[in-house]
Amino acid sequence: MDLQLSGRVAVVTGASKGIGLAVARTLAEEGAHVVAASRTPADAKAVHVAVDLMDPDAPARVVARAVEEFGGVDILVNNAGGPPPGATLPRAGFMTPDDADWAAMFEFNLFSAVRMIRAAVPSMLERGGGSIVNVSSTMGRQAGAVNVDYSAAKAAVRALSKSLSAEYAPQGIRVNTVTPGAVLTDWWTREGGAAEVFGSMVGADRDSVLTEVAPTMMGLATGRLVHPQEIADAVALLASPRSGSTTGAEFVIDGGQLKEI
Ligand SMILES: NC(=O)c1ccc[n+]([C@@H]2O[C@H](COP(=O)([O-])OP(=O)(O)OC[C@H]3O[C@@H](n4cnc5c(N)ncnc54)[C@H](OP(=O)(O)O)[C@@H]3O)[C@@H](O)[C@H]2O)c1
Repeated sequence: MDLQLSGRVAVVTGASKGIGLAVARTLAEEGAHVVAASRTPADAKAVHVAVDLMDPDAPARVVARAVEEFGGVDILVNNAGGPPPGATLPRAGFMTPDDADWAAMFEFNLFSAVRMIRAAVPSMLERGGGSIVNVSSTMGRQAGAVNVDYSAAKAAVRALSKSLSAEYAPQGIRVNTVTPGAVLTDWWTREGGAAEVFGSMVGADRDSVLTEVAPTMMGLATGRLVHPQEIADAVALLASPRSGSTTGAEFVIDGGQLKEI
């Protein structure tokens, strides 16, 4: 299937590794011009803009660079998110995060996306439309005693997508959500990362958390974590005009983790 992305301009946040890197590479392979925003560069075929998205002025700089290099923005993938700089997840218990933790969580996961969208929409309108994909998490749909601040921020991302899809559909901008479950990225695998934190809670080592404990405890029907490319492929489809009637949708890619009907 030709995704008809050739020559389109895509901005991807958090594109130096993990899901964002897979998205940036995939869109570039499909012929898009990619502008990758992160603090450190990626090896994707992309123009890198070095920004800290905790800085409220950063999104406007990213979009300005896309306009300068390629004349505008057609696709925006708000992927940057997860634990904000300095934080490690999972974090158990409502009493654990303080006000500063809550604020940082919302800055990184919600407000950076809000500001990216605010910066990109005028260019999309000028070009007759566009596609925005916001990355949420199954934690934004499933209640639990871990990551309460992260869950709330990711639920807000889903609400944001849905509201904007209604507002901007008449003007040709589609807004969708991709909701990953547990994805095998640095966030899980790095030293001191989620697999080790999870392992210390249940008395298991990092490798067995990744291959057995997490899939079992999280109820992953496929028996394994999701591969970043499996998220990137869904993002590419939503970015494509081939999904022209898909807006306000949520693609859950979680290996069968969420069980509600
Ligand atoms: N992995 C999972 O299990 C999982 C599950 C559900 C949802 N998600 C969501 O998927 C998205 C990507 O997760 P991931 O696992 O791919 O994350 P990751 O491997 O930790 O990568 C995070 C990306 O964000 C960038 N980033 C971090 N802090 C930044 C900052 N202050 N300013 C700009 N960029 C920053 C990082 O680049 P630099 O360090 O170079 O800045 C990196 O490119 C997130 O929204 C996350 O919530 C992930």
